[in-house]
Amino acid sequence: MKMLSLLSALVLSALMLINIAQAKPFTSGDATAGKQFFEQNKCNRCHIQKMGGDGSAIFTRPNRIVNTPKQLIARMHYCSEASKIMLTPADEQNVGAFLNQTYYKFK
Ligand code: HEC
Repeated sequence: MKMLSLLSALVLSALMLINIAQAKPFTSGDATAGKQFFEQNKCNRCHIQKMGGDGSAIFTRPNRIVNTPKQLIARMHYCSEASKIMLTPADEQNVGAFLNQTYYKFK
C-alpha cells in the first residue's frame, strides 16, 4: 500500500512537471492588440500576393512552414525584419497570441 502511494505521488509530480514544461504559449500576449498591429502594419500584404483572398490562408495551408510556437516567433521576426516593421517583445507576444488563437491553435 505504501509503495502504491509513493508511486502515485511520483506519477503526479511527473504530470505536474509536464504541465509546466508545456505552459500555454503567448499567455502574456493580447490577441486584440496583436490583430490591430497585424492590420495596421499590413502584415498580410505579401501573403495576399502569394495566396490571394485576404492572405490568411497562408496560416492554414496544408504545407505551412510554422508548426510550433517557437517557429511562429522566428517567422514573425523574419517577416517583420524583411519588411522593416518594428516588432517589440510585447508586439511579438500580442501578434503571436492573435495568430495562435485564430489559426495555429498551439496548446
Ligand atoms: C515582405 C513580404 C511580407 C510581409 C510584409 C510579411 N510577410 Fe509573413 N510571409 C511572407 C512570405 C513570402 C511567407 C511564406 C514563406 C514560405 O512559404 O516559405 C510568409 C509567411 C508567414 C508566416 C508563416 C505561415 C505558415 O506557413 O505557417 C507567418 C506566421 C508570417 N508570415 C507572419 C507575418 C507577420 C506577423 C507579418 C507582419 C509583421 C508578416 N508576416 C509580414 C512575406 C511577408
